[in-house]
Amino acid sequence: MHAITVTDRDAGLDGLTLTEMPYPYASENDVIVRVHTAGFTPGELDWPGTWTDRADRDRTPSIPGHELAGVVVELGYGTTGLTVGQRVFGTVDWTRNGTLAEYTAVEARNLAPLPADIDDTVAAALPISGLTAWQALFDHGGLTAGQTVLIHGAAGGVGSLAVQLAREVGAHVIATGRADDRDLALDLGAHAFLDLGADELESVGEVDLVLDVVGGDILERSTALVRPGGTLVTIAEPPSTQPAHGIAKFFVVEADRARLADLAQRVRDGRLRPLVGAVRPLTEAAAAYGRDRRTPGKTIIQVTKDQ
Ligand SMILES: NC(=O)c1ccc[n+]([C@@H]2O[C@H](COP(=O)([O-])OP(=O)(O)OC[C@H]3O[C@@H](n4cnc5c(N)ncnc54)[C@H](OP(=O)(O)O)[C@@H]3O)[C@@H](O)[C@H]2O)c1
Repeated sequence: MHAITVTDRDAGLDGLTLTEMPYPYASENDVIVRVHTAGFTPGELDWPGTWTDRADRDRTPSIPGHELAGVVVELGYGTTGLTVGQRVFGTVDWTRNGTLAEYTAVEARNLAPLPADIDDTVAAALPISGLTAWQALFDHGGLTAGQTVLIHGAAGGVGSLAVQLAREVGAHVIATGRADDRDLALDLGAHAFLDLGADELESVGEVDLVLDVVGGDILERSTALVRPGGTLVTIAEPPSTQPAHGIAKFFVVEADRARLADLAQRVRDGRLRPLVGAVRPLTEAAAAYGRDRRTPGKTIIQVTKDQ
């Protein structure tokens, strides 16, 4: 089957190579999915699981991409809950071959049925960004109505969904990003927008929750904005400092079939809008991520076209 693989840790996005890989094996409780559309997070080339398995053994050449929409074509031994021919969407474990491939083996519990009225392109933009936004805001951040949340990178995959989810729950939402992102962030539901390139981050004042997707200096400086008893949740890197009277935490998103189903229902209801950017074929996947200009929204790879 055709797949994108990586073999060289130092090559970055230039290491994404279109190649032939063996058809995957369906283990216990797995399904094999024919991948229609796939998402890829450039940062995953820095994740340990891209390069080694759960026992820290080299697993290259590995196939990146850990979210998909597609159709189940095979069930593993003992697999229940999904059927051959069913449309599904969801995530693939970080330490397994991923979704930039015509077929992939996935634990069935990582997938949810995909409603007929959500197309494959929108569905592939939802799993990692949607689950991450939800878990950051509510599971780790404890966000509730009336609280103030600062969401960095509001025009990105995670930030754009987080702004919408936080607004819906009744929080006061301050979004950040590049100057060009202002209109989009306000349109998604932010009450206020801060241009990280021009505005003073400290002008935001104290907030109950910071959701950081950027890391580095932005993460460091955001720590001081957490009000006593508040929380900073970062998905970029473990924080090196803690707020004076709050807590800062880093986490890695977990698969969650029930939450995927909930997010899909929000999309159907028009309450949640995943931002789809460029849609490119598998043959152009490497070029799609080695982008030299900004494309708002999540880049989606159309891996196969059969429905
Ligand atoms: N821990 C986890 O479980 C987890 C899960 C998902 C993602 N992540 C990580 O979280 C990060 C964000 O993911 P994503 O999918 O949302 O990425 P994304 O779609 O690229 O969004 C990031 C957004 O932040 C903006 N941004 C970055 N640095 C900025 C700066 N200095 N000033 C202003 N805006 C800035 C980006 O703008 P530009 O496009 O202009 O740079 C973009 O709009 C990635 O590093 C990803 O690997 C971690």
